[in-house]
Amino acid sequence: MSKLTGSKKATQFTESVIREMTRLNEMYGGVNLSQGFPDFPAPEAVKEAACAAIRADVNQYAVTWGARGLREAIAVEFTRRHGLPIVPDEQVTVCCGATEAMMATMMGIVDPGDEVIIFEPFYENYGPDVILSGATPRYVTLCEPSWTFDAGELAAAFNNRTKAIILNTPNNPTGKVFTHQELEAIAALCRKWDVVAISDEIYEHIIYDGHRHVPIATIDGMADRTVTINSLSKTYSVTGWRVGWTISPKSLTDAIRKVHDFLTVGAAAPLQEAGVAALGVPEAYYQQLAEGYRRRRDVLLDILERHHFTCYKPYGAYYIMTDIAVFGFRDDVEFARYLVKEVGVAAVPGSSFYRNAAAGRTKLRFCFCKRDETLAEADKRLAALSNLVIG
Ligand SMILES: Cc1ncc(COP(=O)(O)O)c(C=O)c1O
Repeated sequence: MSKLTGSKKATQFTESVIREMTRLNEMYGGVNLSQGFPDFPAPEAVKEAACAAIRADVNQYAVTWGARGLREAIAVEFTRRHGLPIVPDEQVTVCCGATEAMMATMMGIVDPGDEVIIFEPFYENYGPDVILSGATPRYVTLCEPSWTFDAGELAAAFNNRTKAIILNTPNNPTGKVFTHQELEAIAALCRKWDVVAISDEIYEHIIYDGHRHVPIATIDGMADRTVTINSLSKTYSVTGWRVGWTISPKSLTDAIRKVHDFLTVGAAAPLQEAGVAALGVPEAYYQQLAEGYRRRRDVLLDILERHHFTCYKPYGAYYIMTDIAVFGFRDDVEFARYLVKEVGVAAVPGSSFYRNAAAGRTKLRFCFCKRDETLAEADKRLAALSNLVIG
C-alpha cells in the first residue's frame, strides 16, 4: 500500500463544511450567512492599537504563553466581571484563537482512550479536536426546540474514563444560554467523577433578552477543574486576528502551554498588544454590541420566517438554527448547495453540527453578524424560495 496517504486520524474527519460554504459563496457571488464573521468594521481604538504596535516595532515573538500585558488584562477583566481571582503567570495562556486554545487544551490534558462528553448539536471543530487528541466522544443531546438536556442522559454519560466535558455557552449553533441551574447539575457531575470542564465562552458578550452568562468556573468547586476558553474574535469583530486564550487551574496550565508552544509558539505579537486595548474598552461597548446583535437577530428572524423557515429563536451568539422540511429537499446539504448556487445565499447544513448526518437533515444555520444591507440583500434573494414550498 502506498505511503503517500494522509494519517488514519486525518481520514476520520472531513473538511470544515462551514469554511467550504464560504468558498462556494465566493464562487457564486452569494450573500454569506454561513461562516460567523462580521462584515462591518472592528472598533477604531482596537485597530489603532494594532497599527501603533506595528509602528513601535512589536515584531518579534511574544512570550510563548502570551505577552505579559495581555495576560494581565485577561486576568483583571475576568476577575472584575466574574469575581474569581486569576493569576496571569500561572493561569493564562494566549493562543492563536479559541480554535488553537481548544486544541492545545485537548491535546494537553486528554489521553487516547479517555472519554470526553460533548453536547450535540455542537460547534463542528469539537469533532476533529476529539479525534486528534485520541479521545472517545460521548454525546449528550440538546433537545429542540428549547435545547434542554435530560439530566438522566447526562449523568449516564459520566464514568471513570471520563476526562473532560466540553461546554459552549452561549452556544453555537443553537443560541442556547446554559442556565445557572443547568451548570450546577453539570458541575456536580464533574466534581463527582473528577472531570475537567472545558468551557468555550467566546460569545460571552453576545446575549439577549435578559439572559445572563455564567462561567462554569465560578460555580462552587469548579475553579480548580475548569479551563475557560475565550478570544478576541467575536467580541471585538476581529476573527482574522487569531488571538484567543485559556484560563486554567495551575495544575493544567503547564500541559496546555507545552502543547501550545510546539503547535504555534505564539499568537501575533502586535495583535496581542491590541488585545490589551480591546479588553480596556468602556462597558458601553459591550452593551451596544449585545443590543446591535439583538436587533440583527430580530431582523433575520423576521426575514427567515417570512420566507417559510421554521426558526429556533436564539438567546445568545449570532446564529439562527432553522428547520427546512417545508422545502421538500432530500437533505440539508442538497438544500444548502441549491441555496448558494441558485438563490445566492450561503448557510450551513445542519448535519455539520451532528455526529450522524441524519439528525441534521432538515436543519440549516444562518448567521446574522452582518450589516443591514447584507441582510436586506439576503431578504430579496430568499423571496425566490416561495415557489419551492410544499404542502
Ligand atoms: C463556539 C466557537 N468556538 C470557537 C470558534 C473559533 O474561535 P476563534 O476565531 O477564536 O478561533 C468559533 C467560531 O465560529 C465558535 O463558534
